Amino acid sequence: MRVLITGGAGFIGSHTVVSLIGSGHEPVIVDNLSNARESVVGRIAEITGVRPEFHRLDVRDSEGLRRVLDAGFDACMHFAALKSVGESTEEPLRYYDNNVSGTVSLLEALATSGVRFLVFSSSATVYGEPTTLPVTEDMPTGSAANPYGWTKIMMEQVLRDLQLADPTWNVALLRYFNPVGAHHTGLIGEDPQGVPSNLMPYIARVAAGLLPHLSVFGGDYPTPDGTGVRDYVHVMDVAEGHVAALDTLAGRRGVHVYNLGTGRGHTVLEVVKAYEETTGRPVPYEIVGRRPGDVAASWANVDKAAEELSWRASRDLAAMCADSWRWQTTAR
Ligand code: NAD
Ligand code: UD1
Repeated sequence: MRVLITGGAGFIGSHTVVSLIGSGHEPVIVDNLSNARESVVGRIAEITGVRPEFHRLDVRDSEGLRRVLDAGFDACMHFAALKSVGESTEEPLRYYDNNVSGTVSLLEALATSGVRFLVFSSSATVYGEPTTLPVTEDMPTGSAANPYGWTKIMMEQVLRDLQLADPTWNVALLRYFNPVGAHHTGLIGEDPQGVPSNLMPYIARVAAGLLPHLSVFGGDYPTPDGTGVRDYVHVMDVAEGHVAALDTLAGRRGVHVYNLGTGRGHTVLEVVKAYEETTGRPVPYEIVGRRPGDVAASWANVDKAAEELSWRASRDLAAMCADSWRWQTTAR
């Protein structure tokens, strides 16, 4: 299938482009490069032998989108969004404009061009503080702790309302848990600007000696060692989940919701230990106060994706750490 990939130069988008090419699809990237570099396109070509078409474009530019869409597409995967939780509390309007208005603009362009199959990057953040674990897709989407989380809840609602109004739409809401790691070649990965706010990129920089130590946010949660529990999932597994959704749901109508996780949780200290064991590098840490807005524990029930998409994450925490480290130590 010919697939428009918004945000395809970013972390999860670029890995998905690699998987799509490997599965015989034809991804076309649009990205405004607000959080990515164009050199990623060359890296994808190095990995796959195919250089995907790339357009530097903002999804809020509906005119520009329509011109790209004129070439004819079967589906769209919508990754383009701003995703820094802290920044979203400081600049909420920028987040609502980029994420929510950007999605509306994209949907208008897709509808005009006759593309009604969309795979959307949602997040476990829409569940808020989980009432039961593991988290299933039918749990109510709660209230978010920050504007970034609200944009995800709002975008899911926009997509549901659109599909109600026009039942020919086919929408997959993929709720990622904690995507980490990198492509095993070390050629593409996550490249946060400044000091990372997410755990694994932060650990990678501590292990590389670029940051002195990790601050562990909270040591008094009701978890096995008192630190937060999350469902870390390898980004290539997440990428393959997108290909499975595309292949399985093509030609269907409706709104289809899937958790993309491994189905098991790890504490912060387990991740630190796994990183040290995999890389042989020390990761000094200090336990500090809880981070506002954090939940104690979150991990996915992944049965629905296994049953309906025949997809299951296959890479373990050691592989996530090894690939994160290879990316951290590859020149770029
Ligand atoms: P990323 O920042 O690496 O990728 C997003 C890409 O979108 C970037 O390349 C950026 O330049 C581009 N972009 C942003 N706004 C744009 C716009 N208006 N027009 C065109 N391009 C634009 O982030 P990621 O980690 O790859 O996340 C991809 C998607 O998955 C996002 O929607 C994010 O909210 C969602 N998500 C990510 C995680 C995670 O842990 N990384 C978890 C849950 C959900
Ligand atoms: C965070 C976001 C979430 C977003 C997700 C993916 C918050 C509150 N939530 O989720 O909305 O969808 O990233 O981008 O920011 N930790 C430390 N020290 C650190 C960093 C993290 O101890 O320096 C801990 C956290 O407290 C948490 C775990 O590591 O227990 C994972 O944190 P992180 O990688 O930021 O992911 P989430 O908090 O799950």
